Amino acid sequence: MSYKKVILNEFGTPDVLQVVTEDTLPEPAAGEVRVKVLAASATFTDTLVRKGIYYGFKGTPPLSPGYDMVGVVDKVGSDVNGLDLGLVVADLTVYGAYTEYLLRPADSLVPVPEGIDPADAVSMVLSYVTAYQMLHRVANIQRGQSILVHGAGGAVGTALLQLGALLDLKMYGTASASKRELVESLGATHIDYGTEDFVKRMQAEGGCDAVFDFIGGEHFKRSFESLKKGGILIPYGFYDDAMGKGGNVPVDYMKVALWNILPNGRKTAFYAIGGMREKHPEWFKEDLAALFDLLKAGKFSPAIERRMKLEDAKEAHELIEQAAVKGRIVLMVNEA
Ligand SMILES: NC(=O)c1ccc[n+]([C@@H]2O[C@H](COP(=O)([O-])OP(=O)(O)OC[C@H]3O[C@@H](n4cnc5c(N)ncnc54)[C@H](OP(=O)(O)O)[C@@H]3O)[C@@H](O)[C@H]2O)c1
Repeated sequence: MSYKKVILNEFGTPDVLQVVTEDTLPEPAAGEVRVKVLAASATFTDTLVRKGIYYGFKGTPPLSPGYDMVGVVDKVGSDVNGLDLGLVVADLTVYGAYTEYLLRPADSLVPVPEGIDPADAVSMVLSYVTAYQMLHRVANIQRGQSILVHGAGGAVGTALLQLGALLDLKMYGTASASKRELVESLGATHIDYGTEDFVKRMQAEGGCDAVFDFIGGEHFKRSFESLKKGGILIPYGFYDDAMGKGGNVPVDYMKVALWNILPNGRKTAFYAIGGMREKHPEWFKEDLAALFDLLKAGKFSPAIERRMKLEDAKEAHELIEQAAVKGRIVLMVNEA
């Protein structure tokens, strides 16, 4: 049976993404599962993989992007137990999820409870686990504390605000004017980074307990200055560097690590979902399962602005790089 996937033969602009048809389905080896994909996220991180600038990524073309997916167990290899055909599962693939079918190691799959929409479910995997682990595993945030979320109208930003609201946090979110309504609807005070200095604003408010910053360069310093005594800066990306707007990843790492050891009453801790999963694989599964439970209990609903088709991956990447997405995009796959 033939199936479709999105591949790139070279790293580059969204134009390198092309839809191809494979003649035969892949066969699972021992310990592997073939998954029929239902939904895959399209995120900023996928654009880094596509450009060949994702820090630490060793993959080489030809490859399919796609950092996470939700799908149905379609065939199992030998030595696979407890994964019945038809079971809905999720995984953090890092790349390869822009496809109708893929093979995954059985032990990396996390069951998705019945009754959860696949687009909502896949939103939990990269963006919400990132937000959840930064809040709970790294910042150890406590009910009623205050946070500053940069890019508050994006995929991780909206996840941080929704999870923060469950803890009654006092929340501030930087975003362009186009995302004000979304940010405010999620319970945060909107700071338009184009017209207002967030450091001055936060200092006027007495500083905050945690800042989540993926912009990089001088921005990390400014976020650090927005903290109150005892607060923590969590850098988790290098957006400006990726967009050619400045910053230097190794230098940023060193500077931030230095602030952490200087006696200034504030802390820093980098977050990377891959590193955290490698160190604590059980946390990834526990946290994703906890998020599915919250979703199922109706505690929040992910801000999905657009559901697009697998064939629309190129357009999805263009929209993401133009910062034209309020919340997130999900690619719907294998729809009837
Ligand atoms: N460390 C990890 O494990 C991990 C995991 C997931 C994601 N990430 C990283 O986290 C970052 C965010 O990912 P995402 O999926 O949420 O991206 P996203 O959905 O594209 O959202 C990012 C948003 O940030 C806003 N922005 C741009 N420059 C800004 C600035 N100077 N100040 C405030 N906001 C600004 C843009 O919207 P407006 O300009 O319209 O406000 C943009 O849409 C990316 O760098 C990604 O690679 C890291």
